[in-house]
Amino acid sequence: MCGIIGYIGNRDCVQIIQAGLSRLAYRGYDSAGIAVCHEGDIDLRRAHGKLENLISLISVDPIRGNTGIGHTRWATHGRPSESNAHPQKYGKFAIVHNGIIENYLELRQELIARGHQFTSETDTEIVVHLIAEAYEGDFAQAVRKALKNVRGSYAIVALCADHPDEIIAARQQSPLIIAKGDAENFVASDVAAVLAYSRQFIFLDDGDIARVTANTIEIFDLDNRKIDRPVKEIQWNLAAAEKQGYPHYMLKEIYEQPQKITDTFRGRILEDEGIINIDEAIDKLEFEKCHRLQIVACGTSYHAGLLGKYLIEKLARIPVDVDVASEYRYRNPIITPNDGFIAISQSGETADTYACLKIAREHGAKILSICNVMDSTIPRASDATFYTRADPEIGVASTKAFTTQLASLILLAIHFARKLGMIDADYTRHLLNALRAIPSQMEAILESSDDVRLVARKLLRANSFLYLGRNVHYPIALEGALKLKEITYIHAEAYPSGEMKHGPIALIDDRLPVIVIAPKNSTYEKTLSNLQEVKARNGRIISIVTEGDDMLTRVSEHAFTIPECDEIVQPFLSVLYLQLLAYHIADLLGNDVDQPRNLAKSVTVE
Ligand code: G6P
Repeated sequence: MCGIIGYIGNRDCVQIIQAGLSRLAYRGYDSAGIAVCHEGDIDLRRAHGKLENLISLISVDPIRGNTGIGHTRWATHGRPSESNAHPQKYGKFAIVHNGIIENYLELRQELIARGHQFTSETDTEIVVHLIAEAYEGDFAQAVRKALKNVRGSYAIVALCADHPDEIIAARQQSPLIIAKGDAENFVASDVAAVLAYSRQFIFLDDGDIARVTANTIEIFDLDNRKIDRPVKEIQWNLAAAEKQGYPHYMLKEIYEQPQKITDTFRGRILEDEGIINIDEAIDKLEFEKCHRLQIVACGTSYHAGLLGKYLIEKLARIPVDVDVASEYRYRNPIITPNDGFIAISQSGETADTYACLKIAREHGAKILSICNVMDSTIPRASDATFYTRADPEIGVASTKAFTTQLASLILLAIHFARKLGMIDADYTRHLLNALRAIPSQMEAILESSDDVRLVARKLLRANSFLYLGRNVHYPIALEGALKLKEITYIHAEAYPSGEMKHGPIALIDDRLPVIVIAPKNSTYEKTLSNLQEVKARNGRIISIVTEGDDMLTRVSEHAFTIPECDEIVQPFLSVLYLQLLAYHIADLLGNDVDQPRNLAKSVTVE
């Protein structure tokens, strides 16, 4: 979410910042802005929409300076607009920010009580006010003091009109690097933004505050103790760095998942109290009191919805229906004011999903959306939105958007269950513990990407795949088959394992790879029998099993393992193998992984 950049040196910073922003545009393009120190003041230009709008604005209304900051936004707090664009300026100060200030409402109220007036809906604006309030002549000290009050994640770069010879940068859980130049220095969200100017980078760590001048870089912690950070030489070429060193956005996004799940959970799991901290607007909808919940979505989001049904029904015992939006909208669906309607959409723009939301609205149902893109159409039309916080997803085949949707649905399921008294405090704590462990378990699985590639190599010539799963793994089988179809163009279908005898078993022969998701859980024994049936017909079994499951491993051509864990956590882990398998097959086939033929990231027409 959002790209930020700062420059200090002898050159005209506007050109450099514009070029950097163009390399950061993949991080968001809701608005863009630049601020420069100029003749004892700060000049600001901001524009709603893509970077080109800002560039046109500056071409007719130029700004110049040798010290400046820039931002390209992916909206979180506050809709995309010029006033919500960064830099946010107050008095002699301007800042750009990437992250989320969690206690911003509280801080905003306090600042208002002290007479501050705000011009935007952003969480960022409170930081620039706090800096101005803390300022007593020492710029870095003012930033340090301000940040001590702030909770959440941030990468910020700040300017002060009184100090045109320095910029202050700080990092907490959002990426920030400093690039060393010759009598000039750069600060940016990622290496890609400034790789054209420098190969020497300092990667800031959480809690670091840097004072950067044209010739010096000093780094301190929040208590003003000096810190040494190594300077690293980066050999990447410009194009590769855009994907942060990954050959494809999809692979980068697969690897981002542990971090993104952490982001989805951040501030929402109160483990000590054994509760989920849910936005007030969502809580007020009282979905747990609904007679029925209706989930509607398309594509990958639909698969997340299917798993949501398992989770909500299992934990909260609320009946849940799940529909593909394009089906739901045309069949005169039954929905009443006693129902809760949940639209799931990464983009928040999918036309069919939006049309269903409007139908539900007409029938008086309460509307919750689970979305990734802030303030997109579907959140704006909803009573409340649960944001997945996956950051921009660029690869057309959805990966991190899916797992963060699952993470959101689990949190909602536990929340509803807790409010209804369906699960007690001990069991809730057990579940929350299990959720906390997911990111590190995912990291471990992602280390086996090379093994998955070896298996992928053996499957390249197959012209059809069958995916089998049961219970929580049926939606994952569907998602695995979809990933394969989307980027390898090989036919695949998914079935609930228990349905195999009703048709697909006729397909089994020694050429059909059968991908079976069968970790130890409540339906394990049943799945085992289904597998024996495949084996007896010479089927090629590639399985995902619990570590130490020798029985399944013996009948499989290859078995990928996940650690022993609660059934509700297993989908987060098994889906990683399926994403990697599809990715490696597509890559080995030489396909355009990020932009597969005929597909679009966001389907805004029927
Ligand atoms: C398209 C995308 C899929 C996505 C689906 C629904 O088909 O290629 O990745 O799952 O739309 O999109 P949404 O933004 O509503 O989740």
